[in-house]
Amino acid sequence: MFEADENRPLTKWKENALRNDAWDHQCEVFVADEVPLLEDAYQQAEAAGFQYALADTHGGLSELNNIIVASSDFLLVPTMLTPLDIDEALATYRYIIELLLAEALQTHTAILRQRVPIGRLTVSQQAANDMLELLPVFDVPMYERDAFAAMKQRGMLHMTVANMSHTPAMRLMLRNNRHALDELAMIGAFVEKRLEG
Ligand SMILES: Nc1ncnc2c1ncn2[C@@H]1O[C@H](COP(=O)(O)OP(=O)(O)OP(=O)(O)O)[C@@H](O)[C@H]1O
Ligand SMILES: [Mg+2]
Repeated sequence: MFEADENRPLTKWKENALRNDAWDHQCEVFVADEVPLLEDAYQQAEAAGFQYALADTHGGLSELNNIIVASSDFLLVPTMLTPLDIDEALATYRYIIELLLAEALQTHTAILRQRVPIGRLTVSQQAANDMLELLPVFDVPMYERDAFAAMKQRGMLHMTVANMSHTPAMRLMLRNNRHALDELAMIGAFVEKRLEG
């Protein structure tokens, strides 16, 4: 994972995860919030034999974000179903499409509906949802779930689930967390299918 967000949420996530024995060592975080660091990180990761790189971009426009966009095989643009978030996601989406066109690059892109309520949508959420479905969008959304909200503190979800399964008192939480994990697997499958095809 390449961390371009200078607030370093991924680094903090890893620290928390290690404390909870919920970090998979097949995965590594490389701080990459400047172009030379990104180049270094890429070389280190390649030498270490990593197969996938996930980059978390930072806010705003920058050469660093442009390089990440231009070097990626898949671009995921998350948005919540609020007018403010949709506006930002559409601006980002437009920006990356223009960049890809200008560089004559063909890259998979999709918008991920994030923090979608599990129950009924409000009228404005429904309208936002309908509009997004006109664009390339992940078939499954990421729902608003405690399991996802707690990940930053707990660590990797599949490790948390594995750890919980040894504790009978956690049975109900375990069910919810397994459900969340199944949803993530579908999101992952969507990306994998695009990359293969
Ligand atoms: N699907 C979800 N369900 C519940 N809570 C969520 C979900 N996704 C994110 N959150 C919570 O919302 C907060 C912000 O999430 P996240 O860090 O992913 O946002 P972000 O868009 O990357 O923010 P930034 O723009 O600062 O980078 C976190 O505290 C996280 O736990
Ligand atoms: Mg972020």
